[in-house]
Amino acid sequence: MYKIAVAGTGYVGLVAGVCFAEKGHQVTCVDIDEKKVELMKSGVSPIYEYGLEELMQKNYASTRLDYTTDYQTAYRDADAIFIGVGTPEQPDGSANLSYIATVARQIAESVEKDCLVVVKSTVPVGTNDKVEQFIQDFLINDVKVEVASNPEFLAQGSAVHDTLHAERIIIGTESKWAEELLTKIYEPFNLPIVSVNRRSAEMIKYASNDFLALKISYMNDIANLCELVGADIQDVARGMSFDERIGSKFLSAGIGFGGSCFPKDTKALEYIARQNGYELKTVKAAIDVNKEQKTILFKKASKRLITFNGLKVAVLGLTFKPGTDDLREAASLENIPLLLKQGADIYAYDPVGSPNFAKVHPEGKDGKGSITYVSNIEHALDGANVCFIFTEWGEVKAVTPETYGKLMRTPLVYDGRNIYSVKDMEDAGIEYHSIGREP
Ligand code: UGA
Repeated sequence: MYKIAVAGTGYVGLVAGVCFAEKGHQVTCVDIDEKKVELMKSGVSPIYEYGLEELMQKNYASTRLDYTTDYQTAYRDADAIFIGVGTPEQPDGSANLSYIATVARQIAESVEKDCLVVVKSTVPVGTNDKVEQFIQDFLINDVKVEVASNPEFLAQGSAVHDTLHAERIIIGTESKWAEELLTKIYEPFNLPIVSVNRRSAEMIKYASNDFLALKISYMNDIANLCELVGADIQDVARGMSFDERIGSKFLSAGIGFGGSCFPKDTKALEYIARQNGYELKTVKAAIDVNKEQKTILFKKASKRLITFNGLKVAVLGLTFKPGTDDLREAASLENIPLLLKQGADIYAYDPVGSPNFAKVHPEGKDGKGSITYVSNIEHALDGANVCFIFTEWGEVKAVTPETYGKLMRTPLVYDGRNIYSVKDMEDAGIEYHSIGREP
């Protein structure tokens, strides 16, 4: 078993640290935020992630897992230091690497024995070469430090499961020593390991995420065409899915992809291509389609209603997908300001996302309209003139078509997640608009 330090306790860092401890390694998670460290020590997870708190408490109690702000002590005698800090998008689409640089310097100034630095954060191809050089430049003690790439493929909402049962572990190394050490660290997971060089590992992460983003944008593009020619995108997707070369996953058309990864990673790869004098046309198309798709229902509803001024608008779902309280790049963030600007009185329901949304709109007001957060769907629908569904939460899916008819003033529903069957909604007397399935 190895002594492991993890820098950063966001989705990537914390989940990795907790899972390494669960597999028997001695893990210290490092974060600069004292309050967050205290919170984690008390067994509370700073992120909403299924099963995470339980594992945090179990492994902290067994002393295999600890949290600290004291990076020097954590890094000093670690066999491996995993970096899981953020690489946020900059206005030009490039990744901001300043957090990684800070950690790299702290590592260089702390390590007192040979160690492997493993970059889990998504970084532009070639970054790990630079991190290694950077560490060498600032290294104080006469020890060997190498850098490996080990991109993360977990999805929010299923992060623990995705880590413990990953479909593959990608390790990108430049020496036998690094490859063997990282392989041994992952041995207790008993998962397929793909060993490649560092730059290929960095590229695998972008290429995988952007391929999935492309798949979604492609389905959204086809969905929009389906509406024009009278086809049904769900039937089309089902028909396509039997072809194993296409696969059955990530074929759901909707109001575009959000989250902290696909939007950022598509723009980052497109930026990398541009920097290298290459135009990445496919990824660019995925970005363009997604931008349009986010407000496609708002545009449709605007034509139908002329104005939202003074209308009660029910919004079901605020987060970018179910199972998370994360709002980053969520469709709600684009549509709600547009509705408020026109004077809509919004009643928003989300099982966990409302507090985060209220932080974005602290006054609860933007433009002429107003926004009220409700904890029950019926309250949102009661007397509403129109309803938008932005996230396919289980609670939202459980609402029957009849409920809309019974509660709404005018049963007009715009569903960005294709939750209902068009026929069921029609039978319940609802005017129902969804994605790629216009009646
Ligand atoms: C994504 C990838 O799925 C992970 O493999 C990857 O590790 C992660 O990014 C990352 O780079 O960290 P995540 O952003 O958590 O994970 O969420 P997804 O479940 O992939 O969903 C992303 C967005 O695509 C959501 O807005 C979702 O609603 C949308 N989506 C997904 C669709 O519109 N249609 C689909 O068929 C699937």
